[in-house]
Amino acid sequence: MTDAATPRRGRFITLEGGEGAGKSTQIAALCAWLAQRGITAVRTREPGGAPGAEEIRRLLVTGEPGKWDAITEALLMNAARRDHVVRTIRPALERGDWVVCDRFYDSTLVYQGVAGGVPMATLRSLIDMAVEDTRPDLTLILDIDPATGLSRAGARAGERTGGNDPAAETRFERKGAPFHAKVAQGFRALAADEPERCALIDATGSVETVAQAILSAVSARLSLG
Ligand code: TMP
Repeated sequence: MTDAATPRRGRFITLEGGEGAGKSTQIAALCAWLAQRGITAVRTREPGGAPGAEEIRRLLVTGEPGKWDAITEALLMNAARRDHVVRTIRPALERGDWVVCDRFYDSTLVYQGVAGGVPMATLRSLIDMAVEDTRPDLTLILDIDPATGLSRAGARAGERTGGNDPAAETRFERKGAPFHAKVAQGFRALAADEPERCALIDATGSVETVAQAILSAVSARLSLG
């Protein structure tokens, strides 16, 4: 029950996973399904999701894979995250809207932590500073074999052009197979470590099968009323 003293806060759902797991398609389906139930959902993404954060995104996702070291990436990701939380996510939740976000701090723990080698305690303190108490109610982790995901994501196109298009958002895709194997393993470990918040979704099936698994997880774990 809500009253004037305890305003209703919207729910915050994040989608995570390696490259080419199909997050964008699934986020569109989830937002459409929520809209059919009368729920307004703000669709957003990281890095990005606010004008300043989108400027930082461009620095992060373009250029050579070695352009930033993992600690610099973590600092930039969390600078962008702070802007996104303050300007977009928190106001939406306070209005009572739901927020569906393509990646959030779990991507930092996995990409810069598990795969990039930055200590978890360092990352957690940066994340705490960026998000304070704005944390996901539910995290859907789309699990896919990294080679399949990378080919879906079009990494091969980036390789064909030699990564020479300065605007191509392929910097992380081009970090190499061992990096992406660690990313996949990191997301699975995270799902096992935090089963109450995280649902691991097999993303290898058809779009419809994966969408059904996502809707089941959302219905089972969050009250839609
Ligand atoms: P996208 O391709 O899903 O839009 O995300 C851009 C890339 O940024 C993706 O390869 C994952 C990476 N990333 C991190 O390394 N750390 C983070 O904290 C976030 C949010 C994304």
